[in-house]
Amino acid sequence: MPDPSTASRRPLLSGNWKMHQNHFEAIQFVQKFAYLIGKDELADVDVSLHPPFTDIRSVQTVLESDKLGYALGAQHCHWEDKGAFTGEVSPAFLEKLGVDYVICGHSERRELFGETDEMVNRKVRAIIAHAMTPILCCGETLDERESGRTEGKVLGQIRAGLAGVTAEQVAAMVIAYEPIWAIGTGRTATSADAQEMCAAIRACVAELYGASTAAGVRIQYGGSVKSGNIAELIDQPDIDGALVGGASLDPDEFAKIVRLGR
Ligand code: 13P
Repeated sequence: MPDPSTASRRPLLSGNWKMHQNHFEAIQFVQKFAYLIGKDELADVDVSLHPPFTDIRSVQTVLESDKLGYALGAQHCHWEDKGAFTGEVSPAFLEKLGVDYVICGHSERRELFGETDEMVNRKVRAIIAHAMTPILCCGETLDERESGRTEGKVLGQIRAGLAGVTAEQVAAMVIAYEPIWAIGTGRTATSADAQEMCAAIRACVAELYGASTAAGVRIQYGGSVKSGNIAELIDQPDIDGALVGGASLDPDEFAKIVRLGR
């Protein structure tokens, strides 16, 4: 029997621009996107844009001055508010900029910049402490999938990432399942495989925090999402949105994804 509380999970479609688009290009993107996705399109879906740090202030200004309904996002942050951390970005500063969502534990940060589960967990707690919403990423490598270690890896990342977070806080969070082998490769998990892992993540949250927390947490799929596959993915009962990389850089394509992902 479907859980009636799932009706409250609005889809969240997030554009992770990674290290693409300078602040001029970011402004152009938002202006063009605003012609395509207006208030009507946002009635039943949330959209967040995650530009590089150097663009956030510019994007925030356009969102505010044109009263656009997209949420402002960041791609990561440090867990301390301030200090001698050259090159790092404070969650307190992101809060001041009006950032709503912060991606943390993206596989590129874990694999290329050495972020551990413990660091990711500190970030999750810092983001929540600053009244922003974490998008906690998890996902397995191809080798892990092929050797039957997908669940162990992904659920281990979830358990570690959520340590010390309350049930109420988890219910308001976002988790993004992004199989590493599907990121930027054009290879998407089949909707059945993506659903299976998203359901396993929800079951893990239920085991840790109870059924109502599990019914509240939003779970995104990420990895080569595009307008051609979003409809099938969003149809899955445990997939509540998408974390989109490459396809979110083109306003026309991202607008299609938003329209089809509602
Ligand atoms: P792609 O959509 O380019 O595969 O990237 C997915 C991703 O990593 C989003 O965070």
